[in-house]
Formats: sequence, structure tokens, C-alpha cells
Amino acid sequence: MKVAIAADHGGYDLKETLKNTLLELRIEFEDFGTHSSDSVDYPDYGIQVAERVASGEFERGVLICGTGLGMSMVANKVPGIRCAVVHDTFSAKATREHNDSNIIAMGGRVVGPGLAEDILRIWLQTDFLGGRHAKRIGKITDIESKYGHQPEASGC
Ligand code: RB5
Repeated sequence: MKVAIAADHGGYDLKETLKNTLLELRIEFEDFGTHSSDSVDYPDYGIQVAERVASGEFERGVLICGTGLGMSMVANKVPGIRCAVVHDTFSAKATREHNDSNIIAMGGRVVGPGLAEDILRIWLQTDFLGGRHAKRIGKITDIESKYGHQPEASGC
């Protein structure tokens, strides 16, 4: 699995922590910034991860801002992206099993590093259940199509 990760200044510290988690898990990743705590605009970083996951270049994405909210709004504008804001371990498991989320968003000002690491581990290691949930994902894709977006061939 290849993971794309990015943050704004509000998520920079947590991004650095979660990169260590990915290293421990021996998961290949690429960091699309930001590379300091200097103020930046989260859409400039969120879009880089979202487009690469939607294209299939990366299987999953991790986005961190102050709250996780702005990053998730950006990512979910990209057809084929299902980005979930997650700050608890129950949701980390559920959004993989039920929503087949391909990007996780977290808030560096919301969640501490220990919990964030647990959340990321669970999210990365939980499979989509398919079945009735696949039918529901299909309905999300139908909504995208209704508004003129064709999902990428990757099937995200
Ligand atoms: C930056 O101050 C903050 O607005 C951003 O990190 C994020 O929380 C936006 O949703």
C-alpha cells in the first residue's frame, strides 16, 4: 500500500508523528508538505493528496489540519474520494468497514499524538466489508455522476 500524506501548519506536528507510525508499519508513503509550522492554506495541500488518491497513484491518503474539517471538505470535492474526519478508534474501523474511506482527515488541534497513532493504525489495517455497504458506495458514486463528475477508472 502507498500512502500520500499532507498537512497545513495546524497539522504539521501531527503529520511528523504519523510519518513515524507509517515507518513503523513499513508502509510506503510520500509527504506532500507542508514542511514547517509557517502559515499556509490547507486547500493547497489537501488537493495534492486527494488528486493522487483519486488517480490511483496512491491507495490511501492522510490529511491533517487544525481540525481535520477543512482538509476533508477539500478532499471530498474530488470525484472518487471518500474522506472521513476521524477522532476516535470506533469511527476509524467503521469508516473503513462501511464507507471504504480512502482518505482520513484528523485535527492536530483536536486529537493527541497517541490516539492519532492508534486511529491511523486501525484505519490502515481494516478492510472494507463490501456487501450491502458496496451498494451504498455505489449510490455515492451515482450522486457524483449526477453532478457531472465521472470517477476515475481506479474505482476509488
Ligand atoms: C488554520 O488556522 C485552520 O483553519 C486549519 O488548520 C483547519 O483547521 C481548517 O479547517
